[in-house]
Amino acid sequence: MELRKLLGDRVVERLASSQRFAALTGAGVSAESGVATFRDPNGLWAQFRPEELASMEGFLSNPERVWQWYQYRRHVIERVRPNPAHRALAELETLVPEMTLITQNVDRLHQRAGSTRVLELHGNLEENHCADCGLPYCDRISDESPPRCPACGGLVRPSVVWFGEMLPADVLQEAERTARRAEVFLVVGTSAEVYPAAALPFLAWQHGATIIEVNPTPTPVSAIAHASIREKAGSALPALVELIAAVRTTDGMGQTTLRRR
Ligand code: OAD
Repeated sequence: MELRKLLGDRVVERLASSQRFAALTGAGVSAESGVATFRDPNGLWAQFRPEELASMEGFLSNPERVWQWYQYRRHVIERVRPNPAHRALAELETLVPEMTLITQNVDRLHQRAGSTRVLELHGNLEENHCADCGLPYCDRISDESPPRCPACGGLVRPSVVWFGEMLPADVLQEAERTARRAEVFLVVGTSAEVYPAAALPFLAWQHGATIIEVNPTPTPVSAIAHASIREKAGSALPALVELIAAVRTTDGMGQTTLRRR
């Protein structure tokens, strides 16, 4: 179906007139770059046990295994590139007065695509810090085992959020503020099963945002979405951003019955 029809007049009008846009992204946005998702049938959690690889208990019981798994994921990310979905979200920043990207991804592909305002809810794979004293660790690392902190001798870990851990408070607070203020809130490539990230679309909806979901598969967010685009992000987002560009120009406006408020 043509995108404009699928979205409907009210949603297209919001795309044309809104000042504040935000997006929540998940692993699905990087899938077409070749980064595995977590909960799809061939996803990471179908092959590996999250409690062994993404928890402090798992790390303490076998630091080498956890470290090697993150080194493997780091090497995957070094080899891949941002895809058209990442690039479309970066372009959206240039089209609207305010665009904040909230991501659960740790791969930094949004930044590599050019997005400048990115809130990383679950940390990132590029950085490390001491599991004991919290000091950032920037020295050499090997693939085999975690280094020791030069300050306290503690084990160094990747700076990602593990199950059972708090999200960085300032980042979460800013993400919630963004959700409350957003007029248009995109939800892209996330199963919306992991909290508190999954609560953000609902917070945005409660505060009046128009919710647009991009996901081939329905999720809990589908129930509140004003429009659900059941396509892969790599094709859906460039089309959506092209439409936003069109309806925010005089020519594009002329093709519709839209009015700026
Ligand atoms: P999931 O693996 O749970 O969900 C991926 C979603 O992306 C699914 O809903 C898919 O249908 C969708 N998807 C797959 N391919 C897509 C594509 N090409 N375009 C658009 N959508 C696509 O990943 P997340 O929701 O990101 O947390 O998972 C949330 C968190 O759970 C992760 O940040 C990670 C994980 O455990 C931690 O490690 C703390």
